[in-house]
Amino acid sequence: MKKILFVLPAGALLLGGGAAPVRAESARSENFQTHCSVCHGDDGKGQTEQGRKKKARDLTNAKWQDTIDDARIVRSITKGHDEMPAFGKKLTEPEIKALAAEVRSLAKKPS
Ligand code: HEC
Repeated sequence: MKKILFVLPAGALLLGGGAAPVRAESARSENFQTHCSVCHGDDGKGQTEQGRKKKARDLTNAKWQDTIDDARIVRSITKGHDEMPAFGKKLTEPEIKALAAEVRSLAKKPS
């Protein structure tokens, strides 16, 4: 009995360390994590290795968000925009619209 109690926490620690980011901790949708996070990051700021290399946009920038409309976001996700890949063949229209809404939700209020 005592031995089992002692061993369990050590095993839990092993599992926790070094594992991939825990999905449950992310506020992002599954589609965002699957298709967008690699460049834009779960926080949308684009501070990932890929994001920096390709100069992914900081999606949380409220000032930038103010300058574009929803149709532009949908179009950019569907057809791509500069280094931003097109997702029109990978995702359905409702999925792209949901992602566009998610992009909107990332914008911080200007401080
Ligand atoms: C391969 C890296 C990469 C991936 C994956 C990626 N993006 Fe981008 N994204 C970029 C880059 C680079 C830009 C900046 C391009 C530009 O100048 O508009 C960008 C720009 C954008 C923009 C702004 C486009 C505009 O019209 O100004 C939006 C919105 C966006 N991404 C959303 C997404 C969403 C949603 C996903 C997932 C479906 C995604 N991105 C996946 C690299 C990526």
